[in-house]
Amino acid sequence: MDLSAFQWQLDRPIRMKTAEFQKEDRLTHCIFAAQLTRPLLDKLCFIAEMIRVLSRTKEGSNKLRELLSHKRAMLYFTQPSTRTFLSFMAACQILGITCNDVRDPSVSSEVKKESPMDSIRMFSSYFDLIIMRSNVSKFAECCAYQMNDLAQNSMRSVPIINGGAGSDEHPTQALLDMYTIERTFQFDHKENSPRSRYMEMRRKYSDLTLGPDNKTYAFCGDLGRGRTVRSLATVLGQYKNVTMCFIAPEDETLQLDPDLRDNLIGKGVNVYELDSLDATVNGKPVLEEADCLYMTRIQKEHDTPELAARYQQLDLSHYKLTLDRVSHMKDYAPILHPFPRDSEEAEIPTDIDNDPRAMYFRQARNGMWARAALLLHIADAVDHLNVLYKEFYGVSAEESLQ
Ligand code: NCD
Repeated sequence: MDLSAFQWQLDRPIRMKTAEFQKEDRLTHCIFAAQLTRPLLDKLCFIAEMIRVLSRTKEGSNKLRELLSHKRAMLYFTQPSTRTFLSFMAACQILGITCNDVRDPSVSSEVKKESPMDSIRMFSSYFDLIIMRSNVSKFAECCAYQMNDLAQNSMRSVPIINGGAGSDEHPTQALLDMYTIERTFQFDHKENSPRSRYMEMRRKYSDLTLGPDNKTYAFCGDLGRGRTVRSLATVLGQYKNVTMCFIAPEDETLQLDPDLRDNLIGKGVNVYELDSLDATVNGKPVLEEADCLYMTRIQKEHDTPELAARYQQLDLSHYKLTLDRVSHMKDYAPILHPFPRDSEEAEIPTDIDNDPRAMYFRQARNGMWARAALLLHIADAVDHLNVLYKEFYGVSAEESLQ
């Protein structure tokens, strides 16, 4: 794909780019994890919570569907996806947005040599929002520049949401991961972990605090090629007193990207790079130290024959969970995974699914609420949700949820 027309825009520092993708403090496109600042995350998590609560009743769900029933979305997913595609579709349905999708460019005019950039502009003629996933890293970013250029020329322009760009970025996965982490460490959700549980945990782990600050996050698996770890680590790097342990096989293609490492260290994160789930940090086993464990699969679809042959020599058992390994973890420490897990490699065997720390299915469901929150924010309709909530419950969400 030829993106050279956008090269000068692509080459700029991230600060300049993110400034172009927002209007005051509202995102106009969601392309990078770096756009998910802490105040915005707090806001989006709160909106997600309101949507989740309202969805519990038929009346609430019907009202939510009125919020964006005048909007249409295009889901343009030319790279395989199950959760991101379906949870965005479900999020659209929650808010009443009508969806259409193109998942296979061979059934679109791209077979007649239409450029992907033209396809995007066509979608923007018919839809009010484009949610996209591509195996080309910078494609979504360039689409957002194209939309901004159109807007500058007073032409029709719609928001672009990046649902996964090559091995580069997956900002909305970082959003749902943060929503899950936030909920877990607030210990205040009935179906999750009530506040009394926090007091109980404090008796056992005296330095435990509420919220994502002051925590040790362990990431395990293919950290070099997985975009979810890159996006989540970038976002977590904003929190206070954070330690990150990156556990990856000894092959530089699978290990933490040096640029990301330097970036995290520059933000004051304590970074450790380890070669096994049984390794130690500061003399203590990493699994006993971790407040949260983020597992990932080896991304074999990126293998070349040479890489596949090299990886044959690696002992991947060091990067797989077992019941015994889980038994060393803190009682409250969530086990997360962006999914899909690899059913053959079994980095998380199914016998762990019933452990109360196994949060990955809940995490996937959280994607629906978090993505609905993002859609409402981008559509500038959060005020309508506030009004709806108050009408429905007689009190504002601030009073009833916090
Ligand atoms: C991830 C992705 O596509 O990057 N999946 C997802 O969106 N939940 C992770 C993966 O494919 O390993």
